[in-house]
Amino acid sequence: MSKGIFITATGTNVGKTFVTGLMVKKLREAGHNAGYYKVALSGAEVTEHGLIPGDADSVNRVAAIGETMENLVTYVYKNPFSPHLAAIIEGNPVEMDIVKAAYKKAATNYDYLTVEGSGGIVCPIRYDDTKIMLEDIIKELGLSTLIIADAGLGTINATVLTVEYMRQKNIPIKGIIFNRYHEGSVMEEDNKMMVEIMTGLSVIAFVKENDTELKIDTDKLVALYE
Ligand SMILES: Nc1ncnc2c1ncn2[C@@H]1O[C@H](COP(=O)(O)OP(=O)(O)OP(=O)(O)O)[C@@H](O)[C@H]1O
Ligand SMILES: [Mg+2]
Repeated sequence: MSKGIFITATGTNVGKTFVTGLMVKKLREAGHNAGYYKVALSGAEVTEHGLIPGDADSVNRVAAIGETMENLVTYVYKNPFSPHLAAIIEGNPVEMDIVKAAYKKAATNYDYLTVEGSGGIVCPIRYDDTKIMLEDIIKELGLSTLIIADAGLGTINATVLTVEYMRQKNIPIKGIIFNRYHEGSVMEEDNKMMVEIMTGLSVIAFVKENDTELKIDTDKLVALYE
């Protein structure tokens, strides 16, 4: 029976892919059969061999998964827009049944699946006659979540708003990981304290610039997956 966790963030480019790569790498180095899955990726690189989904390619390499792109990400859009808009322009809108089948397939191949979201937590995945928000996918896949937040200025606001929205939508949250953390920064220490007080959640790991290992006990990391 496969276990999973959904990775969201306080916004796009905050470090979901970077941190996910380190999480999957750590699990695999500990001998676990860990994989990666992403529903929809926008802004794929256009090459002569077709579209390259950067996030999936990156995690595949960092964590040495050795998986095919089509098994790692189901919907790949060229335009660097929210998936709902990319699909309006390019076609191929997200179908929940296809997502469920792709996730099920990934879950039969891996014991621990790290599922990366798109953008922040408020992300329209499809918005035509059918409407799918990111939280619908999290709920449909039955996943709990981790929030990636920047350690620096602005994170109290961004993290508390993210947590409040997720609680309003009844999405379970396991904890927060601070990215681009600087040891000894008075502000970042205070950010950790204030975010923990204001959300009741723990900042469970700190990732610095260009870290190559996630500094967290393997048992604690494994316990996040359910
Ligand atoms: N700790 C870090 N050290 C060095 N580079 C980082 C770090 N965190 C993120 N980056 C870089 O910053 C950029 C944005 O990070 P990343 O792609 O992980 O964000 P994301 O939240 O996955 O974005 P998206 O919403 O597009 O999926 C990438 O080029 C990534 O390699
Ligand atoms: Mg990403």
